[in-house]
Amino acid sequence: MEVILAKSAGFCFGVKRAVDQVYEQIEAAAKAAGADPAPAGQPSAKPIYTYGPIIHNEIVVQDLENRGVRVLESEGALDALTEGTVIIRSHGVPKRIQEKIEKKGLSCIDATCPFVKRIHRIVEKESTEGKKIVIIGNAGHPEVEGIMGWSVTPAVVVESEEEAAQFSSKEGEKLCIVSQTTFNYNKFQELVEIFQKRGYDISVVNTICNATEERQTEAKDIAAKVDAMIVIGGKHSSNTRKLYEICSRECAHTCLIQTLDDLHLELPEAVRLVGITAGASTPNKLIEEVQNYVRVNF
Ligand code: F3S
Repeated sequence: MEVILAKSAGFCFGVKRAVDQVYEQIEAAAKAAGADPAPAGQPSAKPIYTYGPIIHNEIVVQDLENRGVRVLESEGALDALTEGTVIIRSHGVPKRIQEKIEKKGLSCIDATCPFVKRIHRIVEKESTEGKKIVIIGNAGHPEVEGIMGWSVTPAVVVESEEEAAQFSSKEGEKLCIVSQTTFNYNKFQELVEIFQKRGYDISVVNTICNATEERQTEAKDIAAKVDAMIVIGGKHSSNTRKLYEICSRECAHTCLIQTLDDLHLELPEAVRLVGITAGASTPNKLIEEVQNYVRVNF
């Protein structure tokens, strides 16, 4: 069977970078452990933590746990630490948390996605210069919480038209509008227009990342030309479901699988070409397994 694998399948650049950094730390710790008890002045193996799960994928988080990596579920858990390495995930954290990790003398590995880091820098600079920060995004999302924490004055999160209409600020106050990286572009534009119509003095920085859109566009193009399409990802992952919907519209033989065990494709004889894509939290190893299986067994 011929297979077309989407280049954008699975982890985006920022998540891949963060996960890789965790594995690098495990390797470094294992090397240090080989020398344990460490000779005076040499580092010994210290525990590794991620501040929140590094990714929304249980298999990956479990694999990391098996290798000794613990997840810090709250700031309280961080407060209780006395040693070790803390890895900040791709979503980023408020400045306060990063400083806390460093002040406690823990080793801090900042795996914040560079696209999110850019937002932190913009927000810090613009708020220092006196602008009020407006974040277009989902209140409560860890990335948005992190962005808020880089503004030197309280930032406001706006998610809906109603919230944009209700927004008010001090007379003459300038606004700087940024976006959560995964926010929908059209909705972002609509909300920005509301601020413009209301006559605010605004500077807008479109900080939406196009990784999700690229993955969707590529999946659609591939699904349109193959005889069958396989989407790999969690059944509860919204970006995976979206990929499945997009592909189903283009290709009647589209299936959604979580692992290789779910793959029971009954394909007509004439099928020659199969496409594969995967949601944002799907590890490469699983994508490769499915790809190899389809090539050999169909
Ligand atoms: Fe991924 Fe970074 Fe974009 S984490 S979705 S590449 S902002």
